Amino acid sequence: MRSIAVVPGDGIGHEVVAEGMRVLEAIAEMSPFRYHSVEYDIGSERYLRDGVLVTEEEFEALSGMDAIYFGAIGDPRVKPGILEKGVLLAMRARFDQYINLRPVKSWHPFVPLKRETDFDIHFLRENTEDFYIGAGGKLVPEEMKQKMSIKRGLYSLDLKLKAKSEPEDEFAFEIGVLSRRGVERFADYAFRYAADKGHDKVTLVDKANVCSSIYGMQREIFQRKAEEAGMGLDFMYVDAMAMAMLVRPETFGTVAVPNLFGDILTDLGAQLGGGLGMGASGNINPEGVSMFEPIHGSAPDIAGQGKANPFAALMAARMMLEHLGFPKEAEMLESALSESLRAGATTPDLGGALRTQEVTDHVIECIRSD
Ligand code: NAD
Ligand code: IPM
Ligand code: MN
Repeated sequence: MRSIAVVPGDGIGHEVVAEGMRVLEAIAEMSPFRYHSVEYDIGSERYLRDGVLVTEEEFEALSGMDAIYFGAIGDPRVKPGILEKGVLLAMRARFDQYINLRPVKSWHPFVPLKRETDFDIHFLRENTEDFYIGAGGKLVPEEMKQKMSIKRGLYSLDLKLKAKSEPEDEFAFEIGVLSRRGVERFADYAFRYAADKGHDKVTLVDKANVCSSIYGMQREIFQRKAEEAGMGLDFMYVDAMAMAMLVRPETFGTVAVPNLFGDILTDLGAQLGGGLGMGASGNINPEGVSMFEPIHGSAPDIAGQGKANPFAALMAARMMLEHLGFPKEAEMLESALSESLRAGATTPDLGGALRTQEVTDHVIECIRSD
């Protein structure tokens, strides 16, 4: 019996997670997969009502579960960052889910760009460091000079620091930090993952030509780990990668990408695979509790209208099944999803006419008839 914590969150998170739970129930009826679930009331409604994000008791309880199934977080009534950082990033950090696994594939026939060859990119987004560590703030020039050791050569900042300490000379900053240990475990995971998938190389995406302190160290560590693993390693700058994803997505296999660029590239990837409603992810801690979620957000523009595409959440459930040790059941779900897509049983974002629940009804029929 596996234990699953269910955190629907906000907006369409509620709608798509409910569909994922229906599918898990259908799978349990047809297979040895057994689970019990506990739903958590975490999200904007509670925050607006009680001012609470995630309590210590909830963190404790979640840490004892086999997996977390998460919807989405974010609400236009709440200042940006409060829920996103206070709930989602807090969970990723607290459970040290240092890999965000985001597979992107061509779910024919819904790829928006015509492609000769199918693609199947496995993004491994580092999930705990980079510009996501929360080291930011505001300083006037005097404080900035005292508190930050500015390297020679950053001319634009050197020049600006000559300004007087008037309120309008204020600086806002956000620092990207990578730790040697953090990069090493990221690289170890990436090369293990690539080998496991039969890929002969890892592509590392960065911006080492500008942010050379952090990404320079990352290149050096990946280079050494590649040699140790006897694997290939390609470097790609993130700007070129965005372009290459459009023109030759089929040439990528395992792609390691730091946190912020990974956030951006995987929305692009999801869209390449048919739409934001198609991208699923697993926040993985190989030794701890992992969390599975669609990569899209709470989509306030369509929430409550039955328009949300449940595929991303269902694919996240598929990833969770595999993680929980049920690869056959995961495969069963993926082939039902493919079958539904081929049949055109989709929501309007993929050109179909079905509502969220009707898509799931179709997927469940496919599961039962296979
Ligand atoms: P979003 O992903 O919520 O939506 C972007 C666009 O894609 C919208 O037009 C939306 O309707 C569409 N879309 C997203 N998911 C869809 C689905 N399943 N089916 C059909 N269409 C879908 O991004 P946003 O609008 O930039 O952000 C909304 C809120 O969500 C913000 O508060 C943001 O911080 C938050 N957010 C949360 C997560 C998360 O919880 N993992 C991820 C991204 C954004
Ligand atoms: C995602 C989201 C989050 C991120 C936000 C909501 C904090 O965009 O899961 O992709 O930036 O990681
Ligand atoms: Mn994102």
